Amino acid sequence: MKDWARSIDAGEWESLAREHGTPFYAYDAKVLHDRCNDVSLAFSQAEVRYAMKANACPAVLDAIRAEGFGIDAVSAWEARFALERGFAKDEVLYTGNFPSDDELREVAGMGLIVNLDALSALDRYGAMARGAKVSIRVDLEEGAGHHPHVVTAGDESKFGLTLDVLDEALAIIARRGLRLVGLHQHVGSGLSTDEHREVWLRAATGLFDVALRVERATGPLEFVDVGGGFGVGYREDERTVELASWGSALERARIERWPDPKRRPALWIEPGRYLVAECGVLVTRVSTIKRARDRVWIGTDAGMHSLIRPAMYGSYHPVYAPRPRAGASERCFIVGPICESGDVLAEERTMPVPDEGDVLIIGVAGAYGYAMASTYNLRARPAELFFERDEWKVVRERERYEHVTGNGV
Ligand SMILES: Cc1ncc(COP(=O)(O)O)c(C=O)c1O
Repeated sequence: MKDWARSIDAGEWESLAREHGTPFYAYDAKVLHDRCNDVSLAFSQAEVRYAMKANACPAVLDAIRAEGFGIDAVSAWEARFALERGFAKDEVLYTGNFPSDDELREVAGMGLIVNLDALSALDRYGAMARGAKVSIRVDLEEGAGHHPHVVTAGDESKFGLTLDVLDEALAIIARRGLRLVGLHQHVGSGLSTDEHREVWLRAATGLFDVALRVERATGPLEFVDVGGGFGVGYREDERTVELASWGSALERARIERWPDPKRRPALWIEPGRYLVAECGVLVTRVSTIKRARDRVWIGTDAGMHSLIRPAMYGSYHPVYAPRPRAGASERCFIVGPICESGDVLAEERTMPVPDEGDVLIIGVAGAYGYAMASTYNLRARPAELFFERDEWKVVRERERYEHVTGNGV
């Protein structure tokens, strides 16, 4: 059973829910550590830059830092927060996408390596940060993901510099006196099938080839960053990807291209979801049960504002009651309090109907859960609790009226 939360007894969930209110996210440090370990073992040759967009909970960031991983930040404030949590400048890569001048100026002030994917962005950044280290994110036309919205390369994607303008990018970098130290690409998110693995490997080895070409033109690179995207199992019968074969195939390709280890650029990877998805659950209470036509609507105090993945991508998350009610299973739809028909957490689950007031657990919610939560309908984002060394800690309070409305700020 991959969901650690099922091993916590119903009484404990009930008392946490009573003490802290619902909904809240709960994270387990041990599961987070185990997933970090998987990645370290499978990619023993790589440096890990955790994609903090997946989950920027301060306790999660601290645990990631304790693993010796760095950060992939996709906004100036992600980068700033990573530095505040103690990551060193050279452990944080900022990847910009359609960045404004203000954003570029802010990251320029932080002294990070800046990874850009548009000629204009390189030129504007060069004008404000002569001598700074940069990396180029390229689009190798190899995209994949669990949903079209998370495919980040290829025709339909706004990401990456296409290779036809790579020489122009190199010329801008030279003219602006920037230092090109890396190349980067990211295929997409939620890669879980054999086919996805092939796309990922083709893109990664394709990036190696581009790196060789760039090294011939401009000199050695410090790193090649092949992105993240590793999927996890959400459904009860779905497996989380076995990363070992991804890592070994990648390393073979790298050694083939750079037989001399002294000339080999460092390999960076940027997993987000894989590290944090399974360590998190969303804990909610049933507010209202309504029977209509052929279905049972189970209303909870969590909704699309707390976890948007089901509404946005049609994603599946396991849902269960720590203390299931006796009685026949029925056709249930679990929904939130948001004024929108898309406010669904789980569709068509055959389960015993809980009572109003019961606690429900929504599993595998540690990635892109709180991170994508909102205050839609003027509802608060949930609290976040972290379980470490036999102790629960509140690491982020539930938002209050003042935060949500801006009233009095
Ligand atoms: C640039 C970049 N790196 C890494 C990631 C992490 O992806 P995942 O959480 O699927 O590993 C993302 C997410 O899409 C990304 O945009």
